[in-house]
Amino acid sequence: MSKPASNHSDPKVLISAEKLDERIAELANEIQNDYAGREIVAICVLKGSFIFFSDILRKIDLPTSCEFLGVSSYGDKKVSSGEVKVTLDINEPLENKHVILFEDIVDSGLTLSYLIANLRARRPASLRTCSLLMKPDSMRVDIPVDYVGFKIGPEFVVGYGLDYAGKFRGLPFIGFLEAEH
Ligand code: IMP
Repeated sequence: MSKPASNHSDPKVLISAEKLDERIAELANEIQNDYAGREIVAICVLKGSFIFFSDILRKIDLPTSCEFLGVSSYGDKKVSSGEVKVTLDINEPLENKHVILFEDIVDSGLTLSYLIANLRARRPASLRTCSLLMKPDSMRVDIPVDYVGFKIGPEFVVGYGLDYAGKFRGLPFIGFLEAEH
């Protein structure tokens, strides 16, 4: 993942709040149709997915239970090592449940790959993944992302839950940071 230079200006809009809202409604609709008549366990991957998760959940009209999984990557964040530390685990058993994992962004795919293996070991009846953003050109592993909001370029993005050095999570849009010249 390429990070912006530290001397950057305020984030510029890449995906507006309106576009996020529209696309999230479409994703919610798709999920609702695919899972009609079933109960789901929706898992929010913290921290980055918390805004996406709360917005999409309110648009999915299905019996749903919510779980929260905290993860942080080890080592140098510029190149994801794929070593993931679980900082908050799920207490509820997932066996025989229909599980959907909600992610903010899939970059190299190493984090999601680890999480899929981790959750599959808990023997859910089904497991699907939903990511608001995906950087297809940065993917280093072949993993299924069943629902994707937006495919974006390799630029580092912030806002709508995503941070840069702990900042910008509260922005209502997805933005990018331009280096100042
Ligand atoms: P991956 O393991 O390389 O797919 O990285 C996934 C994680 O890296 C995400 O859940 C984010 O926390 C972080 N990440 C990757 N790209 C970005 C970005 O552009 N902005 C903010 N965080 C990012």
